[in-house]
Amino acid sequence: MATAGRTIKVEIKRQATPDSGAVTEKFEIPYRANMNITSLLGEIALNPTTTEGKATTPVAYDSNCLEEICGSCAMLINGKARMACSALVDKLEQPITLAPLSKFPVVRDLAVDRSVLFENLKAVKAWVPVDGTYDLGSGPRQFPQLQEELYPLSNCISCTICMEVCPQFNDATGFVGAATIAQVKLFNNNPTGKVLKEERLRALAGDGGVQECGYAQNCVQACPKQLPLTEAISDVSRDVIVQQLKDFFTH
Ligand code: SF4
Ligand code: FES
Repeated sequence: MATAGRTIKVEIKRQATPDSGAVTEKFEIPYRANMNITSLLGEIALNPTTTEGKATTPVAYDSNCLEEICGSCAMLINGKARMACSALVDKLEQPITLAPLSKFPVVRDLAVDRSVLFENLKAVKAWVPVDGTYDLGSGPRQFPQLQEELYPLSNCISCTICMEVCPQFNDATGFVGAATIAQVKLFNNNPTGKVLKEERLRALAGDGGVQECGYAQNCVQACPKQLPLTEAISDVSRDVIVQQLKDFFTH
């Protein structure tokens, strides 16, 4: 319900195309209780007019599940990388500032191209290699203790926040980022997935691999799904070194 006279002030960094310059537009919209950033952007889209009264276009952003599951709505909210659908307006200082993630190419406004994560996941074969339409029978058994240890890693929503906040995730290092390393731990410990363990570890050796991590630990603090990222990075680092030694003595 709108509250008479009360407003929400928001400043949005906008960019019409991947190559155009960025501008900031200010909006002031009627206050409603319990809004999140996604509903705020929806409200602006109903009447896209800036505080100065200039007619503009609705703000572009990615969004799908609205419940912090699809990972698409990550953006900088008051300077912090967060999910728009779980960021509550009532808990944010005003004016609220919105900007696209800074380490990914802007597609338009708040929508960025996060395909680097999906390319990295392909490079490490982050999947269980089971294929075929015939009955494969039941898979190998997994101890409940291992299931419990691995389950948190399966909660990754590919939001790329861990990469955005990582000082090592940049063009100079080519670092794959915490999310990819965490998925290597998940699939290397899967009873079927581990048939590709050596390939995954070799993919993480060398430039851009796990040794680029500087243990700033920003990732584990920022991850919206609380993945145990630093533990995964330590475990995978050790496995990569063991694999390199094995390869050295056998080839
Ligand atoms: S590890 Fe966490 S921060 Fe990184 S992509 Fe997955 S859910 Fe997002
Ligand atoms: S809309 Fe899916 S995580 Fe925010």
